[in-house]
Amino acid sequence: MNALEKIHPTLFNAIQTRRAEHAIEPLFLRRWSPRAFDASKISAGDLMRILEAARWAPSAYNIQPWRFIYVLRGDPLWDTWLGLLDPFNASWAGAASALVFLFSDRLMPARDGQPRQPSASHRFDAGAAWAQLSLQATAMGFHAHAMGGINADAVRRTLAVPEHYEVEVGIAIGRQASAEDLPAALREREVPSDRLPLARVAFPATFPSNA
Ligand SMILES: Cc1cc2nc3c(=O)[nH]c(=O)nc-3n(C[C@H](O)[C@H](O)[C@H](O)COP(=O)(O)O)c2cc1C
Repeated sequence: MNALEKIHPTLFNAIQTRRAEHAIEPLFLRRWSPRAFDASKISAGDLMRILEAARWAPSAYNIQPWRFIYVLRGDPLWDTWLGLLDPFNASWAGAASALVFLFSDRLMPARDGQPRQPSASHRFDAGAAWAQLSLQATAMGFHAHAMGGINADAVRRTLAVPEHYEVEVGIAIGRQASAEDLPAALREREVPSDRLPLARVAFPATFPSNA
């Protein structure tokens, strides 16, 4: 066994499996979605820095349809919020430092006295904000893990979400812990994933027939 693999198996795996085909900022490879968190607290200031990065995401017409509702570990609402995740996600996200729900506004702002019109890109824009959030978290020594596995109806009720907001994802933010802390089934999956080759997802000029 390699010495690094012994001391830090997760980092070793990351180095093994994540190789960029072209030169990119290392931050993109360092960002991943662990499930082992160390149950430490995050300061409100650090969480604001992470959300601030999301705030600067681009969006159609600069409408900024994303909304974030958050609680910090230690808040009396913590357990209620864990109950809004599906049981699989609740089994590991309880050790995170902050939980965030991301919403997107389905409606454009009112213009010229007209009723608000549907937005064509609110989910796409919210995805950009999530990406910036996760990269900022990584840059600060945290990790952010998006969760589609949530009870959206319960989120709506519990957080008093207005009807015109789409419930996008839950996000667990925390400091990574050792995979050893996870139950056996999750431990095996605690490895940064690879990606399709660039040639499978980017093509010059037209779609190839086998895409
Ligand atoms: C929209 C979205 C929903 C996801 N839902 C879940 C989830 O419910 N539970 C989970 O453990 N991971 C979830 N993930 C994490 C993905 O499985 C993970 O991002 C993907 O496998 C790529 O791995 P990486 O983020 O470690 O690079 C979700 C990610 C995204 C972007």
